Amino acid sequence: MELKGEKVVLKSIQSTYFRWFLSWFNSPGVIEQFNFYLPITKDLKERWVKELTEEKKTFFVIVAFDEQGRETEPLGTCGFYNFRCRDMVCNFGVIITDEVQWRKGYGVEATRLLVDYGFTVLNLQKIESGVLATNKPALRLHEKLGFVREGVQREHICTDSGNIDLILFGLPREEWEKKR
Ligand SMILES: CC(C)(COP(=O)(O)OP(=O)(O)OC[C@H]1O[C@@H](n2cnc3c(N)ncnc32)[C@H](O)[C@@H]1OP(=O)(O)O)[C@@H](O)C(=O)NCCC(=O)NCCS
Repeated sequence: MELKGEKVVLKSIQSTYFRWFLSWFNSPGVIEQFNFYLPITKDLKERWVKELTEEKKTFFVIVAFDEQGRETEPLGTCGFYNFRCRDMVCNFGVIITDEVQWRKGYGVEATRLLVDYGFTVLNLQKIESGVLATNKPALRLHEKLGFVREGVQREHICTDSGNIDLILFGLPREEWEKKR
């Protein structure tokens, strides 16, 4: 399955992307935003990749178009996890794994495609997420997409620079519909 935008297309994860998935987990600039701290072993990576294709998660690779309109290698991934079926609420995550590609609008467009898919196809009633208070790009991304700050878990995440607040964001279906 594909979700096509102007700059990027989201492609459902297949085995052809597994090698790419296993390659980026130890990129420090990316990983530090996700509160990973234990060593990321080959076995662990393989388990994660397997889990990405299970039904309870919905993940895509993000592929951009070059100047000729050709598809590039994957430059990130995004998806839903932690589904709560009765409430139809889940969390989302997005990563542009190649830092050279940051600030080109890929993150916002990919997340917009994902959010639209979540509300229209998966029939979600609300999408939520938590962002480190120091993660300016992610804070901005949430604001641009209409997510509203719903709370703060104070000094919630331990990092090298001390304990950091986790900002909780939510986007209920009705608010998304009004902003479409
Ligand atoms: C968050 C992330 C996905 C954003 O991807 P991106 O492709 O660079 O995002 P975009 O280019 O669409 O830009 C998003 C907005 O953030 C802004 N932004 C980017 N970097 C910024 C920074 N260092 N400081 C302030 N704003 C920043 C952009 O300018 C843009 O806002 P604008 O259109 O008003 O100028 C990317 O930084 C990333 O992968 N980070 C690591 C993983 C992560 O933190 N994921 C989110 C976890 S919830």
